[in-house]
Amino acid sequence: MLMNNAVGHDMQTYNVAVVGATGAVGGEMIEILEQRNFPVKEVRLLASDRSAGKTLSFNGQDLAVQLLTEEAFDSIDIGLFSPGASVSEQYVPAAVRSGAVVIDNTSAFRMEPNVPLVVPEVNPEDLKVHQGIIANPNCSTIQMVVALKPIHDAVTIKRIVVSTYQAVSGTGKEAVQELETQTRNVFTQRDILCQVYPHQIAFNCLPHIDVFLDNGYTKEEMKLVNETRKIFDDDSIGITATAVRVPVFYGHSESVNIETEHHISPEEVRELLTKAPGVAVIDEPEHNRYPLAIEASGEDDTFVGRIRQDESIDNGINMWIVADNLRKGAALNAVQIAEKMIEMELL
Ligand SMILES: NC(=O)c1ccc[n+]([C@@H]2O[C@H](COP(=O)([O-])OP(=O)(O)OC[C@H]3O[C@@H](n4cnc5c(N)ncnc54)[C@H](OP(=O)(O)O)[C@@H]3O)[C@@H](O)[C@H]2O)c1
Repeated sequence: MLMNNAVGHDMQTYNVAVVGATGAVGGEMIEILEQRNFPVKEVRLLASDRSAGKTLSFNGQDLAVQLLTEEAFDSIDIGLFSPGASVSEQYVPAAVRSGAVVIDNTSAFRMEPNVPLVVPEVNPEDLKVHQGIIANPNCSTIQMVVALKPIHDAVTIKRIVVSTYQAVSGTGKEAVQELETQTRNVFTQRDILCQVYPHQIAFNCLPHIDVFLDNGYTKEEMKLVNETRKIFDDDSIGITATAVRVPVFYGHSESVNIETEHHISPEEVRELLTKAPGVAVIDEPEHNRYPLAIEASGEDDTFVGRIRQDESIDNGINMWIVADNLRKGAALNAVQIAEKMIEMELL
């Protein structure tokens, strides 16, 4: 279908399915499609039988959530998936068979060789080789590569040491509820129930995100390693990660240390990042100004600050990177992929 855009030209519109529409990422997806005025013809909201029949609002219209089935993708052009990896594994192939292009937020297909893993500011050209599925990287990977790409292009990053401070919304809506309830129960001296995390998250830090692997790292930590190498198309970068869940509702923070092939000063990094798409530099320690999760929440940019020389090696830089994990870390990046595909005439 064609509709008129702001300058009066005909514009293609698309049937979009949001799979996992009632979740933390799905909700943000709906809001971002609205906010960015995505050229939507029809939006189909899909979830499990727990939510089928509920109504959600899109552009002022009440839409009923429908049950996710293999037949639910009839006439859908774009499938924005965030229902968890096992559900994506089951239903993404059906969506592709129906003719939809799928942008999947889960880890199900990210490391498949024939599936592009894309951050539009970093490797949009990888979209050209898609075969129906495009994977959205993990939230902690996206914000890191957006900030590091201009530096990698300029002076070649040899090694990355990253420690994350990840918000509970990264685990989903039940984890947000768990932090809220536990916090209240600590103050009112009630029992603390741990249902989502193995330990109390309120007033605590858990050095454990996703499952432990044989090498002693967690799966989340290895996502940072493997996904960054795939997005940069550079297996030679040394990367070591420690992923920590902290009692923050929205916004992931990361302490990132890089070692580069050639020297770069903190001033040059600031200059590069000030010009970089999707990045905002907040780095005025003299005024106590640096990126904060509570300020990044609800924003589209990836914020970088505390940029300083690593004085322990010849060519090292430290920095602090913060972004809204539900927006740039998930839903916004997915919608930006769709927008980029339209721009590149791949949709
Ligand atoms: N949160 C983040 O920051 C983030 C970032 C990047 C990627 N992701 C990934 O995105 C996915 C979802 O995350 P989330 O945080 O949005 O989780 P969530 O808040 O728990 O939401 C899960 C959504 O999936 C739906 N769902 C679950 N099982 C289903 C099934 N069998 N059939 C149909 N729908 C089903 C749920 O529907 P019901 O209401 O019916 O249960 C809900 O809409 C995960 O794979 C996660 O790793 C999350």
